[in-house]
Order: sequence, then C-alpha cells, then structure tokens
Amino acid sequence: MENRAKSDTLLQAADDLARSKLSGKRYAHTVRVADTAERLARVHHLDPDRTRLAALLHDAARETEPEEFLRLAERWGLPAGEPERESPKLLHASVAAELARRELGIEDEEVLGAIRAHTTGCPGMGPLALALYVADKIEPARHYPSVERLRELASEDLREAAAEALRRAISYNEGRGRSINPDSRETLVWLEEA
Ligand SMILES: [Fe+2]
Ligand SMILES: [Fe+2]
Repeated sequence: MENRAKSDTLLQAADDLARSKLSGKRYAHTVRVADTAERLARVHHLDPDRTRLAALLHDAARETEPEEFLRLAERWGLPAGEPERESPKLLHASVAAELARRELGIEDEEVLGAIRAHTTGCPGMGPLALALYVADKIEPARHYPSVERLRELASEDLREAAAEALRRAISYNEGRGRSINPDSRETLVWLEEA
C-alpha cells in the first residue's frame, strides 16, 4: 500500500515535470507514449509503473535549445561524440535521464537507461527500454506505412519490433543520404544476433 502511494506520487511528479517543460503538443505525445508503454509492459509482464515513469520523462528535455544541450552535456559530464555535436538534439535523451535523477531523485538504472536509449537504441538495452523505444514509435498518433505491422509485432515480441523499427529508421535515413547513427546500427546488430 505504502509502495503504491510512493509510486503514484512519483508518477504524478514525472507527469508534472513533463507538463512544465513541454508544449501542449509534445506533452500530449508524452502521455500517449506513457499509455502505450504501460500497455506493452502489461502484455510482456514488465513493471507497468516503472515503464510508465520512464515514458513520462523520455522527452522532458526535448524543447531545450541546441546550444543549451551542449552546455548541459559538458556541465553534467554526459558523453557527446561526433553525432551529438552534429545533431545536439540527440542529447535530449541523456539530458532527460539526468533531469530525472536531479529533479526527481530517480536512481533506478533501468528507468534511466530506458530514457537514455529511447532515441537511438543501445546495445544490451533491457526489456523496459525496448518497451519505451517501441512505444515511442507506435503511439496512436504515429502514421507511416509500416506502423500497423509494428503495432502487431510489438504485442508479440518487443525485440523483433525494436529491430524492425530500427531497420525502418536506418533505411529511411539511407534513402535520404543522411548519416546513420552508430548506436542505432550497433543496436540492430545486437538485436539480430541475440
Ligand atoms: Fe525523444
Ligand atoms: Fe518521444
């Protein structure tokens, strides 16, 4: 009972933080991802509250300015390589995880790792991270040709759904001559090997 109350308080704090940091449009996306991730957690026997918590916070830093991303990364010692310097908004994932730690006192590594991995994926990512990664790609307002197939896969096998989403993202970027994020490539290799 006490745990239930603690969990509800933390979920409410995460919701409030997301609402305070985001436009109405992006906050609405956040809530749809949280609902989708929580549903996937129940289907796959994961912890629904911790999955929802990660989802509520995943985009909390998404509306930070590009220069501010690099400044925060330096101040907080977050890894920023070539891809992040080229596209600072990639840092919104690790900055959001850091906000979760600093502002809400979250130390649950599975939750923080899921937030960090939600944009590019990460080799070795856990089930909660896979649920969030996939939920972000299939929330009800996402519309693209293969989304229905991904929604079906997501209920059957999160690893396969994440692999399919990565293949799609990689070939989409290749088709437009954009560089492919090395973490995404490595995550796909990891998912296909295991
Ligand atoms: Fe994001
Ligand atoms: Fe998102």
